[in-house]
Parts: sequence; C-alpha cells; structure tokens
Amino acid sequence: MANISIRDVSKSYGALNVLRPFSLEIQDGEFVVLVGPSGCGKSTMLKILAGLEPATKGQIFIGEREVTDLAPGDRDIAMVFQNYALYPHLTVRQNIGFGLKMRGTDKTEIDRRVEEAARILEVMPYLERRPKDLSGGQRQRVALGRAIVRQPQAFLMDEPLSNLDAKLRVHMRAEIGALHKRIGVTTVYVTHDQVEAMTMADRVVIMQGGVIQQIAAPDDLFNNPANLFVAGFIGSPGMNFLNGEVYDGTLSIFGQKVFLPRGRHLPGPVVVGLRPEHIVLGDAPVTFNVRPSLIESLGSEKYIYFEAEGARAADSEDGKSKGLIARVSHSGSLSNSDELRLGFDPSQIYLFDSKTGERL
Ligand SMILES: Nc1ncnc2c1ncn2[C@@H]1O[C@H](COP(=O)(O)OP(=O)(O)O)[C@@H](O)[C@H]1O
Ligand SMILES: [Mg+2]
Repeated sequence: MANISIRDVSKSYGALNVLRPFSLEIQDGEFVVLVGPSGCGKSTMLKILAGLEPATKGQIFIGEREVTDLAPGDRDIAMVFQNYALYPHLTVRQNIGFGLKMRGTDKTEIDRRVEEAARILEVMPYLERRPKDLSGGQRQRVALGRAIVRQPQAFLMDEPLSNLDAKLRVHMRAEIGALHKRIGVTTVYVTHDQVEAMTMADRVVIMQGGVIQQIAAPDDLFNNPANLFVAGFIGSPGMNFLNGEVYDGTLSIFGQKVFLPRGRHLPGPVVVGLRPEHIVLGDAPVTFNVRPSLIESLGSEKYIYFEAEGARAADSEDGKSKGLIARVSHSGSLSNSDELRLGFDPSQIYLFDSKTGERL
C-alpha cells in the first residue's frame, strides 16, 4: 500500500488541453473517486497514473518513489477496466493466476494467492469454470481477482461497473466497498456516475473540462458545493437554480422579498440554488403557491414539478424558464390540478455569483 502524489500533471494532444495542471495527494489506503461528465479527462488521468499514457508536464509519485517515467509494469499498480476481457479458454483459476504465472511465480504461491482472492470475492465454487459459464457479476469479480492477486501498491479502476445492469451495479458497488475495507489498498476509481462517487468514495474529485472543480468528502461536496457546476452535478434530482437579485440584505425570489441570513449581503444579480429536498409542502418561513405541471409518486415521497419565473437549468446561460422540482415527504394523494403551497427555509438556499458561478 502507498500514498499517491500527483503534482501539476497536465496533458495536451496537440493544441487540445485535456488536463490543466492537476494536483492531488492521495493518502495511503484512501478510496478516491474521480467523477465528471464524459470527456472531462478522467480516463486520461488514470492512464497517466498507470503509465499507459505520458504526461505532458508534471510528476507522479507512488509511495516515496517517482514513477513519472516508469513503464506500467514497473509501477506496482493494478488496473481494472470497464471491458474486463477474460481469457475464454482459461478457467477462473487460470484467469486469476495468469499474471502471476507470466511473472514466473511458483505454482504453490499462485494457488495460495488465487484461493485467497477467490475466498474474498466469493468465487471459490467457480474456480474450475470458464468465463462463459459465469454471470456478468461473477466475471467482474474474476477481473477484480486478477488485480488482487498481484498485491499491488494501488488499484486503478476505470468505470468497472458500467457494463453491468442497474441492480448488479448497486450490488458490486457495495462489494468493491467491502473489499476495500477488507484489504485497504489505495484505490483511484473513475466514474461518470455521481451516485457511485457519493456512495463509494472517501474523497471525491469532481472534474469538468480537465479542471478540478472541488476535492471533498461526499457529504461536504453535497452540503458545501464550491460552485454552480458542483452544485448541479451532485444530488438527484439536481439542485434547482433561479436567477435572483440581492438588494439591501434581501433577495427577490418567487415574486417576493426574502430576508437573507447574515453575511450574504453583496448586492447584485445572483443565481439561487435550492435543493428539491429542501422544499416542503405547506408551512415554512417562506411560502409560495404553484400549479404543478406533474406529480410523480414514489410512495412515501412525491416529486412535484412546477414552473417559476427566473428558473434556469444548471448549465443554461440564457436564463429561460426551466422547470423546478420539489421532493417532498407525503404519503397521501396529491392532484396536479390543485394549487399547492410550497415553502422553504432561506437558511438552506445557496447563492452563486451569476458571472463566475462561484459560491458566495
Ligand atoms: N489519443 C487521444 N488523442 C486526442 N484526444 C484524445 C485522446 N484521448 C482522449 N482524448 C480527448 O481527451 C478528452 C478527455 O478524454 P477522456 O480522458 O477519455 O475523458 P473521460 O474519461 O472523462 O470521459 C476528450 O475530449 C477526448 O476526446
Ligand atoms: Mg473515460
């Protein structure tokens, strides 16, 4: 096991800057998730860590050792990819032990390590089967087994669960979490799925356009997003955004003036963020009436969709009216032909600079 230090690593392909100077200190035994939309540079960062792609600038250390110019095989890391190609003609036992055999590890040691990994991953009963006789989840565990037997300093995983169906993905998410608790190897895990990031990570690194937007523990990211991008990316359904105006310590929103809690008195236009779960049905410090466009019932919860003046989508600059969502606890029936009274507590809103998107 080892800590990993990424120091000012950047990457360009010709004129295209894929990673801006990227620095990250990963603690020994930590589970760090890189998350962001497709094309933001996650896989590139992981390939640079693995040695599969050279950095344009910067340095990488694994443990005390600088590995920036080392070949992948000399870095003492193991990678698990989305496409975990197993050898179809080899048994599970042979697939897991293949890398060790290639390194000339002796047979008893291979058997010992394969069986240890198989026990951890609960694939002991399938050791003599071939991949075609396994389920998708079992195959993915075999792919993890290949990484585990190497006893590397770190695991690098690039969207390893993307090919699995939704239910299995949730299951394997928990298994990888349990595995990490058990063997404690430093892990860098890449995904575009914010739920995966939030549920698995010790710390999340959220990226957009090759730039780190924020590095924080999941709860901190949710409660204290650094900017509009992070606020909109983390959480489901996503945070509602509205254009607002701060003047003389009050905020104009939903056609009314709301007194702002202390310390938020910068005058001018702002983007107001309000999480769907912070909107309640009925009494609240600030209330407003809506005519819902749609109500979705999830049993004890309802998603109430409504329009409001000034509403905007997370990534829209035009400020055109966009739908808002309230997520309320309510087990009775609600009709969307009725006008509903919704409300919120102003201490729970977020304010962002309307030009830079930075949290105010
Ligand atoms: N070999 C390459 N040549 C040119 N551009 C590349 C190459 N590999 C990746 N890119 C570009 O780099 C950006 C980041 O890619 P990638 O790291 O794969 O994103 P992610 O994994 O976050 O989806 C994308 O715009 C992609 O098109
Ligand atoms: Mg990728």
